[in-house]
Amino acid sequence: MTAQNETRATIVSSWNEWDPLKHVIVGRADGTMVQAPEPAIERDWPDHGFPLGTYGPLPKEMETRANQQLDNFAKLLEDRGIRVDRPTPLDFSQEVRTPDWEQNSMFGCMPPRDVLLTVGNEIIEATMSQRARWYEYLCYRPLLEQYFKEDPNFRWEAAPKPRLADDTYKKDYWREWDKKSKAEKEKAIYELDWVLTEKEPCFDAADIGRAGKDLFVYRSSVTNEAGVEWLRRHFPNHRIHPVWFYEDNPIHIDATFVVLRPGLTLANRKRKPLTPNMLQFFKKNDWEVVECAKPFLDDYPPLSFCSPWLSMNTLMLDPKTICVDAQEKEQMEQFDRLGLEVIPVPFIDVSAFGGGLHCATADVYREGNCEDYFPHQIEGF
Ligand code: NVA
Repeated sequence: MTAQNETRATIVSSWNEWDPLKHVIVGRADGTMVQAPEPAIERDWPDHGFPLGTYGPLPKEMETRANQQLDNFAKLLEDRGIRVDRPTPLDFSQEVRTPDWEQNSMFGCMPPRDVLLTVGNEIIEATMSQRARWYEYLCYRPLLEQYFKEDPNFRWEAAPKPRLADDTYKKDYWREWDKKSKAEKEKAIYELDWVLTEKEPCFDAADIGRAGKDLFVYRSSVTNEAGVEWLRRHFPNHRIHPVWFYEDNPIHIDATFVVLRPGLTLANRKRKPLTPNMLQFFKKNDWEVVECAKPFLDDYPPLSFCSPWLSMNTLMLDPKTICVDAQEKEQMEQFDRLGLEVIPVPFIDVSAFGGGLHCATADVYREGNCEDYFPHQIEGF
């Protein structure tokens, strides 16, 4: 921490994705695993040493490069006067268990955005929906304990820990998925037929896009309808809008649909919105929905479960300033044309560790209050 940042008192508050950022958590790559198979997910990367059924730590040289990029990003933020905190990694290669299940490995703590949802003076530890990620909140506990001591108004919450027993998942979902024809997969996309059952509420924090009073929640393969309902009941003063898109393995909203700043959203050019009335809703409120630029990559990077659309996975430092992966030239040019000041940040080596610049961060404090950016609501959205 710089001298300036050491003196910044802890206040937890952040209502949206764009108000001036003053305090943030940036993840770490240490010990990240290609996670062991489980009902929620199975990795199958035979060309890179991890065929179906195998698991283990990502190669050390990849981890070193990812940590260099994460440290560089943290320093860039600190140099701009933003306080940066980092999680405490666990031994992610350890076997974990609850009375309901045993899992041969954990995952990592690069993407705090997946686990921590900040809404106003509240941080919620998300349920998560993969067994390998059930205990990931522990990496953030030293920070949350500290914030709890230092900010008397901080509301620290944990969503009900899901059991993640066998009946939380559709049986043999991925084996069945592989057998599906193109038409059957398309049907699944339209019917939101993903791996989770509705047994219990499940959500990842990265499925939520925050815009003041309105929260957009991706009905993805890690966030079920019960998870959306839990959020709706938990935030009675907010408007919860479930959204979904034409995407065949939907995980996390921030490479698909991004609320950038008041009046402006960035939409994935391939994953079309399927939610009825969604585009009408933005139009009615004079928000522009801009299609993103072409990403730099054509395919997933080696050992990464994140797509080339991490090009959209950006971090707003204030309503005019955006951090973008430095390789995404076309995306940066588009932001430039939209009047944003672009800060290029080398970040491609972080992808395999769980995401891009938005995933790698979790807001602690942004200036500003809870505003209503959508005065014109639409029935049924
Ligand atoms: N699952 C998303 C990444 C979300 C940050 C994708 O691969 O596009």
